Amino acid sequence: MATQKNAFDRFARLYDWEHDQYLVDVDVYLGLARRFGGPILELACGSGRLLAPLAAAGFAVTGVDSSGPMLERARSRLDHLGLTATLTQQRLERLQLDGTFRTIIVGLDSFGLLIKRSDQLDALRAARQHATHDGRLVLDLANGNLRGAVEPAEELVHDLTQPDSDTGRPITKFVLRRPRPADQLDDLMFFYDEQDERGYLKRSMVELKLRWFTRFELELLLQSAGWQVDEVYGDYDLSPFGSESTRLIVVAR
Ligand SMILES: C[S@@+](CC[C@H](N)C(=O)[O-])C[C@H]1O[C@@H](n2cnc3c(N)ncnc32)[C@H](O)[C@@H]1O
Repeated sequence: MATQKNAFDRFARLYDWEHDQYLVDVDVYLGLARRFGGPILELACGSGRLLAPLAAAGFAVTGVDSSGPMLERARSRLDHLGLTATLTQQRLERLQLDGTFRTIIVGLDSFGLLIKRSDQLDALRAARQHATHDGRLVLDLANGNLRGAVEPAEELVHDLTQPDSDTGRPITKFVLRRPRPADQLDDLMFFYDEQDERGYLKRSMVELKLRWFTRFELELLLQSAGWQVDEVYGDYDLSPFGSESTRLIVVAR
């Protein structure tokens, strides 16, 4: 049972507003799941964006997340689509489930939410204990090799404006990013601006820290936790990892 609060508790609705149409990685997981087989475990499954297409493809899926509100949204998404999945509220660092899995996924930068190395290793070791003897772990992270050069000490960018699917009124997201290269992380503040029916502005703010990883750092972490890296890709088209790659997608066994 997760007791610690999680920033995602506060913006589960806005996470879906932003990511419901983010489908660029779905085929990657469908393809890998077809290669490695089920059952599938998604760690940090959030609101079920990836669980739903995997369940719809016929895989037995289990999702774990520490945020109750994100899991509630996952449950409604799956129910709405008539799909089944096992959902469990736990922290990745202390994962304890019955059963083992052939394909284990940590998608969309979620592993970067583990800031401390001990938490990263605990999560990877726990994942290892939940893998079948031929099980695979897939991690998708931003390519940290591109980071660390001279970057602005802070920047505020307009990230996205699009309608709220419930009200039709626009929501705008701004991101304040303060890179901390020596710690290999970004201090992020998300601002979501929306108008109520009278036109008054409501602003929601969420703070997050996101760690970035270089390729060989990630490989060493995985090896230290009992995994062996088999494949490294640089984008969702599964092109080989290279110096210009935007993603760092690792498949370990
Ligand atoms: C970027 S979202 C990813 C959600 C989903 N995998 C997707 O691709 O849309 C990250 C998720 O990680 C969860 N999370 C963060 N820290 C966690 C932890 N220590 N243990 C379990 N879940 C965690 C958050 O609650 C959030 O739902």
